[in-house]
Amino acid sequence: MRDDLLPQLRTAIPGPGSQALAVRLQHSECPDTTYVGGAFPLFWERARGCNVWDVDANRFVDLTAAFGVCTLGHANPEVTEVLQRQSRELVHAMGDVHPSAQKVRLAEALARLTPGDLEVSIFGSNGSDAIEAALKSAKRATGRPGVVAFEGAYHGVGYGALATTWRLHFRAPFADQLNPNVVHLPYPGHADGAARADAATAAARALERVDAQLRDDPSGCFGAVLVEPILGRGGLIVPHATFLPGLREICDRRGRLLIVDEIFTGLGRTGRWFASEAIVPDLLCVGKSLAGGLPLSVCIGRREVMEHWERSCGEARHTSTFLGNPLACAAALCMLELLERDAWIERVATSGALLGSELRDVLARVDGVREIRGRGYLWGIELATRAGAPDGRRARSLVQHALRQGWILLVAGSEGNVLELAPPFVLGERQRHAACTALRDMLQSLPQSA
Ligand SMILES: Cc1ncc(COP(=O)(O)O)c(C=O)c1O
Repeated sequence: MRDDLLPQLRTAIPGPGSQALAVRLQHSECPDTTYVGGAFPLFWERARGCNVWDVDANRFVDLTAAFGVCTLGHANPEVTEVLQRQSRELVHAMGDVHPSAQKVRLAEALARLTPGDLEVSIFGSNGSDAIEAALKSAKRATGRPGVVAFEGAYHGVGYGALATTWRLHFRAPFADQLNPNVVHLPYPGHADGAARADAATAAARALERVDAQLRDDPSGCFGAVLVEPILGRGGLIVPHATFLPGLREICDRRGRLLIVDEIFTGLGRTGRWFASEAIVPDLLCVGKSLAGGLPLSVCIGRREVMEHWERSCGEARHTSTFLGNPLACAAALCMLELLERDAWIERVATSGALLGSELRDVLARVDGVREIRGRGYLWGIELATRAGAPDGRRARSLVQHALRQGWILLVAGSEGNVLELAPPFVLGERQRHAACTALRDMLQSLPQSA
């Protein structure tokens, strides 16, 4: 069967099967979890490559890689084969007590892959876990509880990570239970576009704020700076090339640790192994695509930093039941091998540039498209109202409209006004053309807000 199929719908969206499951789910799941409204949600039955079939046999094209996870396609045949083999041998081990060989192999492979002396890993299951392992490692190494994070940042919603996530939507209900020693400083380019400075000036201003925060820190509160190399959920904002090297220089000069969150951007998404490759962070967090669809994340630290954790005397201070799960580690080893063997990084750089220029060509004359920005297979289309304000209403309508035509995509941005494209790397040329044209037609059919 072809892997680059276009949408094919058999029912209205959502179909009767999805609707019935949504009704049942609303009775049995926490109300603040799965969104039910308009065309949402589809209940997925199977997926392959860039295609997803729902329980009503409708076929979609997934332009999200399912939250940036399935980079080498849904049900990648080689990853699936490894999973089948591994599941016959060992599904679960005892992470920090009696682990599997797969955990050792993966930790070694990551140490080889990551830059500089990033070579000591802490495994987790989701992105929040990796961030929290990094925050704890920074606390152990510096003794300082404070973290400088950025406006627009999304680092997850676990209790440790949540304090560093920017949007009050996530933080406010739990604010009195979170680490109070977190400040959010401006991320270059994140402030409302109407007043947006040029990229180099915005980066310089943001760096000045970080430097001032760390300089005026008489109690020595702040031990680490936590940053996304490209603001993902915050709106696909690519900072000027001086920003990360500037942060590295400030952290070195002021004796603080730099934590880079590559949970979304890492492992080829931006046409590089890591979007932050211009620098070597002290702690690097990776997740999402690492295990090809299985839950696995990792915080990889410089040896010098990680040696502040004492050697376990049989009661590890940081662990979890599924730490270094052998099934997930085997899938991750396969993913890393495939990324390298099939030169995916170079291929994403080339075909991602084509995706970017096609989006720019096709959407150039569409009203209300303020900016198209990104790298590799991570693109944002920012929408503005006629008055120049963020047009979240139109972006949300477009996502609903797209679903009804068989395209799965998401919105990003603190105002929900950025269409986010993060397709699997296996997106076919035919799918790419069709997606760009469909986006143009849908945007033209949805009026720009006043
Ligand atoms: C940059 C970034 N960091 C952290 C996270 C949190 O990951 P998880 O949802 O797996 O906890 C995400 C999730 O979208 C993310 O995009």
